[in-house]
Amino acid sequence: MSAWEARDGRFRGLYAKPADFKELSRLDPEFSAVVKGRDLDFQDPRSVMQLTKTLLKLDFGIKIDLPDDRLCPPVPNRHNYILWLKDLLDTSSYDKPGQKLTGLDIGTGASCIYPLLGCAQRPWSFIATDIDPSSLTWAKSNVKLNDLSSRINVVPRNADSSLIPLDELGVPCIDFTMTNPPFYESEEEMLRSAKRKQRPPYTACTGSTTEMVTTGGELAFVRRIFAESMLLKERVQWYTAMLGFLSSLTEFIETLRGANIHNYAVTEFLQGNRTRRWAIAWSFRPLRPAQSAARGTKAALSRNILPCASEAEVLAMDLPDAIGEFASTVSAAVGALDLMSWEWDKEAYEGIGRAPDKVWARAWRRRKKREQEAAGGSDTCTSISEMKSDNIFGFKVWIRVSVKQVSVGCRWLEGFDAAAFESFQGFLKATAKTAAGMARMRTAA
Ligand SMILES: C[S@@+](CC[C@H](N)C(=O)[O-])C[C@H]1O[C@@H](n2cnc3c(N)ncnc32)[C@H](O)[C@@H]1O
Repeated sequence: MSAWEARDGRFRGLYAKPADFKELSRLDPEFSAVVKGRDLDFQDPRSVMQLTKTLLKLDFGIKIDLPDDRLCPPVPNRHNYILWLKDLLDTSSYDKPGQKLTGLDIGTGASCIYPLLGCAQRPWSFIATDIDPSSLTWAKSNVKLNDLSSRINVVPRNADSSLIPLDELGVPCIDFTMTNPPFYESEEEMLRSAKRKQRPPYTACTGSTTEMVTTGGELAFVRRIFAESMLLKERVQWYTAMLGFLSSLTEFIETLRGANIHNYAVTEFLQGNRTRRWAIAWSFRPLRPAQSAARGTKAALSRNILPCASEAEVLAMDLPDAIGEFASTVSAAVGALDLMSWEWDKEAYEGIGRAPDKVWARAWRRRKKREQEAAGGSDTCTSISEMKSDNIFGFKVWIRVSVKQVSVGCRWLEGFDAAAFESFQGFLKATAKTAAGMARMRTAA
């Protein structure tokens, strides 16, 4: 297990269970001053604020100061967004986890919570923007308090200036953008919601008007990011946003599909058993995230809004006696294709390959034969290298062995063509069946 995996394991498990307030007050005297036995008064802004400070201190070593009149972020929800980003970025890269990445947090708030949480867990850097002068002052002071001024750049913006100011900052490209946008369309909507939740408005629990209200609500805000993404395209690997309403998510996915963007990811963040938030990510680049990151919501299944599958088991069968030979035959058959690269890990029984196109398909082989004949039998490297980079298909093949069974599957790592992934599954299934037949014959002989 790598050092990153060990650290991530701890962070992943942090809020799986509800917080034990008695234990927190034992660990933090400041928390014990607001808790009553095992209970915390969630209607009291002072208690809510102290809970946030205590969790950040104990779980991440983050120090934070917060004003009374700005939103106090609940840590588990904000942490969920960072956990998801890590999955998204780790699984849509050929590099190992733990790279130095740069993100933009649009609307960082007084807490600057996302950049602080991101920097506590990974060697990331952030541009953190906001339009609220008071929040910006607090955000800067929180960055300083944690000695992170070299990694978090707090940048003031105006309400109508661009949301992703890469050109203004002279930044060519970044790895991700994130935002927890103002939810509501109007102050009345925000006040109605505070009343429903029986909370006094304009406190650390509900947030202020600047934080919570934006023209057109969250959907309009995220559509502004989308419009900018259509110009910046690959300069950002992942554009992401959190949304408070499932209806916003559904409508936004229609916008994505309408623009022919199919490399996207959807997830949900559950906080306790009451509050559910959604998150969406989209990319113009070809690297595709793992299914756990891209299709992380069951509640949205019925709405047909999930991106297409990127993982499949193609065959499961009784364990052949000669499992090593079986694995070698599968690997050799994949490696015999006209690939740009193929690396097979003999111990882990898994391999990663890149193909210039659907090189396993009959149509490809026919074309290659025609080209070879036309070239008088010489190699067709030139035509392969002339293939459009949009057609490149990256994949992982795995063989999993349990006590009695072996299963073979693949993951789509790179490319835009879902049909290529489907046809690759067909090739792999046929290959695995043939390899199993050969292993059986050898055992019988
Ligand atoms: C819901 S708060 C989120 C604060 C913090 N990120 C969090 O999650 O607790 C939304 C933030 O977006 C900021 N905001 C609103 N319009 C903005 C814009 N055009 N550019 C940057 N930030 C904006 C607000 O001032 C506010 O701090």
